[in-house]
Amino acid sequence: MQTFLTLEQIDQVAEAIRARTEYRPRVAIILGSGLNALAEAVRNPVIIPFGDLPHWPVSTVEGHVGRLVIGELEGQTVFVMQGRIHFYEGYTMAQVTLPIRVMQRLGIEMLIVTNAAGGVNPDYSPGDVMMITDHLNLIGMFGANPLYGPNLDEFGPRFPDMSQAYDRELHEQVRRVAAEKGIDLHEGVYVCLSGPSFETPADLRFLKMAGADAVGMSTVPEVTVARHGGMRVLGFSGISNKANLDGSTVTSHEEVLEAGKVIAPKLEALMRGVLRLL
Ligand code: HPA
Repeated sequence: MQTFLTLEQIDQVAEAIRARTEYRPRVAIILGSGLNALAEAVRNPVIIPFGDLPHWPVSTVEGHVGRLVIGELEGQTVFVMQGRIHFYEGYTMAQVTLPIRVMQRLGIEMLIVTNAAGGVNPDYSPGDVMMITDHLNLIGMFGANPLYGPNLDEFGPRFPDMSQAYDRELHEQVRRVAAEKGIDLHEGVYVCLSGPSFETPADLRFLKMAGADAVGMSTVPEVTVARHGGMRVLGFSGISNKANLDGSTVTSHEEVLEAGKVIAPKLEALMRGVLRLL
């Protein structure tokens, strides 16, 4: 498996996408586990299965459809990833974040990233939505940072700033939309672990002490690369289950997919509201 991807390979993917559509999207949306249905909101879509694209890793996880849906939503041209790729599937971090590099070569300026997450904050319940205000890059602290390797100077600097990984102006807009629509919105810190095993109660007590409100297995690598390339980022976690801090409950992928049905309409309303304000 190749550890890094070259600019030439990234451009081959961008070219393959340009060849399939006249759309020139400005906003990308990544749909997490159980949130595929959000792509149905896209009007006049051009659909590209991941498998049609060179170098593009294909998701092996149930609940991740694995295709691009490019089209119109609330007056914006959007590039929706219906399904994503995870590190635990055996892909390199460069592969996991290839879609972000391709977005950047396509001229996409803004990323809305979503995921399913366990609620570490005891105030969170399944079905809740958390706007991500910051993240703990635990997976990166142990060496799995997508920017590991030669720096691609065309995108950004060797040592990119992460002091404002998530866009504060967009947060203000989301708060306004949530208040308008009467959507209860948590705000908190997301922590990314590699997975695929869920956490032990001791893991979860540690994460809680470290300041995490929600835990999952994605998003942080994508956001790191998005910020390296100067994109504005907005992130949401759909809380699919309560973290099992005392070992009294069991976590399953089925409940993650089930909670998505409650979360998707709230996320759709928030995203529509934000897109309308752009
Ligand atoms: N832990 C990690 N990842 C997750 C969880 C969880 O409890 N729920 C959904 N994704």
